[in-house]
Amino acid sequence: MSTHLDVAKVRADFPILEMRVHNKPLVYLDNANTTQKPRGVIERTREFYEAENANLHRATHYLSEVATRRYEEARIKVANFLNAPDSHQIIFTRGCTEGINLVAATWGRQNISEGDEILLSEMEHHSNIVPWQIVAKEKGAKIVVAPINDRGELLVEEWQKLLSPRTKIASIIHVSNALGTVNPVKELVGMAHANGTKILVDGAQSLPHLRVDLQDLDADFFTCSSHKIYGATGVGALYGKRELLEEMPPYQSGGDMISSVSWSNTTWNELPYKFEAGTPNMAGVTGFGAAIDWVESVGLDNIAAHEADLLAYATERIREVEGVRIIGEAKHKASVLSFVMEDTHPNDIGHLVDTQGVAIRTGHHCAEPLMRRFGVPATCRASFAAYNTREEVDIFINSLKFARDLLV
Ligand code: ALA
Repeated sequence: MSTHLDVAKVRADFPILEMRVHNKPLVYLDNANTTQKPRGVIERTREFYEAENANLHRATHYLSEVATRRYEEARIKVANFLNAPDSHQIIFTRGCTEGINLVAATWGRQNISEGDEILLSEMEHHSNIVPWQIVAKEKGAKIVVAPINDRGELLVEEWQKLLSPRTKIASIIHVSNALGTVNPVKELVGMAHANGTKILVDGAQSLPHLRVDLQDLDADFFTCSSHKIYGATGVGALYGKRELLEEMPPYQSGGDMISSVSWSNTTWNELPYKFEAGTPNMAGVTGFGAAIDWVESVGLDNIAAHEADLLAYATERIREVEGVRIIGEAKHKASVLSFVMEDTHPNDIGHLVDTQGVAIRTGHHCAEPLMRRFGVPATCRASFAAYNTREEVDIFINSLKFARDLLV
């Protein structure tokens, strides 16, 4: 399949890809874990520290105004990229995990009571399980888990049946980090709302691969991370519907989140600042904006088509490797190839392919219940990004054959 991506040009933007590992060219296939950063992102964060660094919103001096402008420009870029109705509904966080924790700890504590239900699915990442377990335990609420099939697809009818009059919120991963499954989130949002249930979509793994249109999706909350989409680490965004964000109590307190403080009565700042206590990762936020610029310059659709080609090619070629079983064969997948090899442990494979310069992730992928669902302790996972090539897939397959020859 031909795509419109000039991969050589894309690769030239990423200095780290020139590296050699164990004297072999680096083949970086751990993109679902974190992506590498293009020069535009590296230079933007450097520029922030070299020429723009000052604290936000708090001073009248030149540098503070520049820093504030850069920070707010990034918010507008994120809002536009996601087609959010208003950039003030985009809250900068430390990442997707913090976004989910924020909603569970604020909206959750305020709205979930004894006997209520929180609907999750078997394919959730720990970040979309544990914050809900904490609030459920505190409130005497119940976690309800929707099943998936052996291909790793959500059983949508079962999910719908599990929506009860007590289901206060459903929280669902958009693209599974461990399986690559793309969930039909728009359909789920419609079903949740028809039941009077709020819904959060965890977009950590979808943002780099699929166009997300928040106004069309209509989810109540959406969370994502910058570092999964070629941006800086330690930065993410939470989107929420205005009326919900307005009513939610603050998450952390101090700094920018106040309107006025007195010993008798403290009031909160307006959105989004109510949720941005303390000095944020300003350079990182501007790097998030630069990452979005980079993705838009290459074209998200071009990236998605290229990754789909790599995934199909790798899925085909991995069948040549004896004893490999793919975990996650959903019809609609993005960028992730998870697998086990009989008579071997994924960590041993990870170490051996690393000796060939190939970086994959092995382990439970922060999704232990999902691993149990498939009866495996862990998997190996190759995950693709804009800069990967078919030649790299070939090297990866050869490195798997090399590992198998040594281990079995
Ligand atoms: N960083 C986690 C992963 O690798 C989420 O899937």
